[in-house]
Amino acid sequence: MASPLVNRRYYLRRRPQGLCTGSDFELVREEVPELRSAQALVRTLYLSLDPTMRIWMSDHRGYMPPSPVGAVMRGVGIGQVVKSRRDDLPVGSLVAGATGWQDYCVADDDILELPLAVLPDPLPAPLPAFLGVLGVTGGITAYIGMDIVKPQPGETVVVSAAAGSVGSVAGQIAQAKGARVVGIAGGPQKCHHVTTDLGFDACVDYKASDWRTQLDAATPNGVDVGFENVGGEIMDHVLMRLNVGARIALCGMISQYNHYNSADDAPGWTPQYHIVQLMTRRASIHGYLVIDHADRYGEAIEYLARLIAEDRLTYHETILNGLENAVEAHNMLYAGGNTGKLLLKVAEVAE
Ligand SMILES: NC(=O)c1ccc[n+]([C@@H]2O[C@H](COP(=O)([O-])OP(=O)(O)OC[C@H]3O[C@@H](n4cnc5c(N)ncnc54)[C@H](OP(=O)(O)O)[C@@H]3O)[C@@H](O)[C@H]2O)c1
Repeated sequence: MASPLVNRRYYLRRRPQGLCTGSDFELVREEVPELRSAQALVRTLYLSLDPTMRIWMSDHRGYMPPSPVGAVMRGVGIGQVVKSRRDDLPVGSLVAGATGWQDYCVADDDILELPLAVLPDPLPAPLPAFLGVLGVTGGITAYIGMDIVKPQPGETVVVSAAAGSVGSVAGQIAQAKGARVVGIAGGPQKCHHVTTDLGFDACVDYKASDWRTQLDAATPNGVDVGFENVGGEIMDHVLMRLNVGARIALCGMISQYNHYNSADDAPGWTPQYHIVQLMTRRASIHGYLVIDHADRYGEAIEYLARLIAEDRLTYHETILNGLENAVEAHNMLYAGGNTGKLLLKVAEVAE
């Protein structure tokens, strides 16, 4: 008899204070249960590392309920069906969705928070791309945000976290629309990547002491469109550069997430001192969530795939190995350890 499959599962044991640590989780080995009818077993191949996971770890008021303490940590990934009692999920098929931080998840619509989506066969792009440039929390988020603020030819667009998964694509979309694009990223190497590999018109190193002067110099005509991924001081200075009628897509505020320690208490939080600029510049800020636009994912993928085929969109991935490294990998998002989409490879695809 074949030995039972073992599932390594990360249980969230307490809500992190600041950057999450290994002690906030317990990595448990459990036997995979027998499948009931209308269930399939999915082996995680790649886990997407997303800043939003730090929000899920907290009980800060978010857009989804917190990941419960005592439950397997919520996470999005790509997996492969390895056993099935479902006609719609044949063995071997590749799926994307809320696999969780674990080796295996049971695909049962009564258990999973979000149904798994079956990926096209044959795949039109390498598998990791479906979590990155063609993925919901990657290129599709960039596409939806840029479609809200609609950069026009000749306008100046500023994108923060420009070397990351969403920012790198957002800036290239704005360039494809004919805008002049200024990125903001941490360190000379990242800035070099943003201007040389991604082709942005300029990049500001927010880790340099003169970063505000750099941003002023890079936006001599002010800022017409902001694509905000970071918040805090960086967003504040962008607010001070806004032109009349400027639009900001508020995609995220990663500089703040590690201050989400409990529902009421957020020490270290940076207020937006210059929010009044929205009034003085008659500007608008539009917060959005990609998951509200699921009906447009197909359109977004088509657009992004076309830009890639036309050599107008380049993308990068930082891929780490091993489920046991999930916590350290997640924290790389906060140290700028990634270029492009950050992924954790958990297992190989079975042919
Ligand atoms: N609204 C939505 O539906 C939606 C969906 C997906 C993602 N998002 C948001 O989009 C943003 C980017 O997410 P992503 O997945 O593409 O991550 P990412 O940009 O690939 O990775 C995060 C990057 O943020 C930068 N960063 C981290 N801490 C920072 C700080 N304190 N100050 C300035 N920069 C900092 C780092 O780059 P450097 O090396 O340059 O420091 C890091 O590489 C996040 O705010 C996320 O919450 C929103």
